[in-house]
Amino acid sequence: MSDHMKIMNEKTGRIVMLAVDHGYFQGPTSGLEEPGKTVEPLLAWCDAVSPTKGVFLRCMPPESKTPVILRASGGNAIVYSDPVELERELSIRSAGLADETAREALRGQIADEIVNRELSNESITVSAAEAARLGVAGVSVSVYVGACYQKESILNLARMSDEGRREGLIVLGITAVGKEMTRDARYLGLATRIAAEHGADVVKTYYCEGFERVVRGCFAPIVIAGGKKVPEREALAFCSRAIDEGAVGVDMGRNIFQSAHPVAMIQAVRAVVHEDLSPDAAYEMFEDLSVAPLTD
Ligand code: 5RP
Repeated sequence: MSDHMKIMNEKTGRIVMLAVDHGYFQGPTSGLEEPGKTVEPLLAWCDAVSPTKGVFLRCMPPESKTPVILRASGGNAIVYSDPVELERELSIRSAGLADETAREALRGQIADEIVNRELSNESITVSAAEAARLGVAGVSVSVYVGACYQKESILNLARMSDEGRREGLIVLGITAVGKEMTRDARYLGLATRIAAEHGADVVKTYYCEGFERVVRGCFAPIVIAGGKKVPEREALAFCSRAIDEGAVGVDMGRNIFQSAHPVAMIQAVRAVVHEDLSPDAAYEMFEDLSVAPLTD
């Protein structure tokens, strides 16, 4: 059994993890242009942090003792260009299409489809042995259930579970949700369970209506991602619901570091996760701290 409890907060058994791994396929994500500057003031409030290898090696404060869950799958990007493939597909699907505007629209649609499909085409980017050598607590691997490279991504997780276990690493399975999927309890229940069945020690997913069903169906502990930036009150509300409905914490990125007041926001999230603070009280805390942030 892997000891995932070693990254959980000792008092509550829950976790506030800061996600800063977005650049692995998105490049210089807003708020993470200079990851070191983003991370440094937030670390005091994190139980763990989840960076990419590059961020871990070059941007983390060297004196940091915060446990690290290292992003270990990737190889994709938000752009993909294979003109041969695009033209081949276009010639098949545009047969009989005389109108040039319609043909150009179809070209754009096919290009988008190829990008979306290729987003699920990940491999392992950091071996378990290297992760162990780097001294991290664990690694994360995405699974793309229902996507074109579903099988490969699930096998990435299964392999990392085998190899990570041998190195004493915690393995975080991430349910990556492609554009073609709906983030509902049915889909996330399927994806989280599949991640747990393939050896994830902790599963990262999204909050959704009916989340308690997702938790009930997944025997591994669940943390939630935040998803796209929403107003702080809304983010604190879904964090609170997720905790009430059985999540053990968050692995949250954009809703913290894209806030106008990231240090205030992470403290409010922390109060929700570790103190069961209500969303209203947490938002009030966020507002107070935003006006007069604590210095230490
Ligand atoms: C992709 C990821 C992200 O890179 C990231 O960790 C998500 O965090 P957030 O949605 O809270 O910004 O997991 O699958």
